[in-house]
Amino acid sequence: MNSATKPMAEIGRDINKAVEWLLQGELVAIPTETVYGLAGNALDSRSISKIFEVKNRPAFDPLIMHVADIERAKDHVETFPEKALVLAEHFWPGPITILLPKKSHVPDLLTSGLETVAVRVPHHPMTLDLLRSLPFPLAAPSANPFGYISPTKALHVEDQLGEKIPYILDGGDCRVGVESTIIGFEAGEAVIYRLGGVELEKIEKLIGPVKTKSHSSSNPQAPGMLESHYAPRKKVYYGNPERLAAGLDLDKAAVLSYKGLLGMELPPSRHFCLSAQGDLHEAASRLFEGLRYLDKSDASYIIAEPVPDIGLGKAINDRLKRASA
Ligand code: TXA
Ligand code: MG
Repeated sequence: MNSATKPMAEIGRDINKAVEWLLQGELVAIPTETVYGLAGNALDSRSISKIFEVKNRPAFDPLIMHVADIERAKDHVETFPEKALVLAEHFWPGPITILLPKKSHVPDLLTSGLETVAVRVPHHPMTLDLLRSLPFPLAAPSANPFGYISPTKALHVEDQLGEKIPYILDGGDCRVGVESTIIGFEAGEAVIYRLGGVELEKIEKLIGPVKTKSHSSSNPQAPGMLESHYAPRKKVYYGNPERLAAGLDLDKAAVLSYKGLLGMELPPSRHFCLSAQGDLHEAASRLFEGLRYLDKSDASYIIAEPVPDIGLGKAINDRLKRASA
């Protein structure tokens, strides 16, 4: 059988079907408030290997464990420091992932050999139902090929991984649109590993100042922070569109703008505006859709305009910078 005749994943809203596949050790795409995840049994090394294989993801890049609530998170971690508990109680279910010391039954494959496991409670009613129906937690990276743009619609998953998995649980468009914020603790101090759906300002208001890790190109000590990531196939330039366009061939340009475009005229096929109102929540929810849209256009390259560097804007700018690296 050649690949053209491979059956595509079924897209549906049947939680029982998702449960069946997962109990059999298969992978299912699941909706969350941030992006779609590629889920499998987080305690079964065979399911975990399938995730790495389907995503074409290097084994040094660990996965997030998804659970239904704090109590279930506690089943898999040695300790839950005070600050971590404050964050979990305040933001879960929600877009924040917490790094905690893992119990020994948690497979090393899940954590890429690290002593900590990344845990989160996703905020989506279907996935919470699913997690409550399963006897194990779910490992779920974003459901895209490694390095490419994360999916925010069931069809994005079908497009890229449809031939490789049996089922996509369709929970509609992802509300937040950027991945979860990842926070860990070093010598009791909170450290942000990835900017994301919970704003830095909200975290600091709750637990005081936190440090932010800087990116590196291939440092296994700081996985999940690869400099080049979330990238379209087309080359991305990050900066002021009017200024960048001056040095480039405008007939070949596509622009991802924050609000509108000032001194430029482009056909609709080569322009995607993140939020005409200038609303960062709307911009985040449309970010990956916009990058995919322009990646499919007939332009040769994409110019991405920075958004205001506050709140969710920090996570958006982080993704755009990495898309252009
Ligand atoms: O919003 C999200 O977090 C989505 C949805 C599906 O939940 N998931 C997601 O997973 O973005 P993924 O695999 O694409 O990104 C998780 C990041 C990885 O880059 C990984 O390196 C980092 O989390 N990570 C996981 N465990 C870690 C650990 N123990 N220490 C440091 N980084 C870790
Ligand atoms: Mg990812």
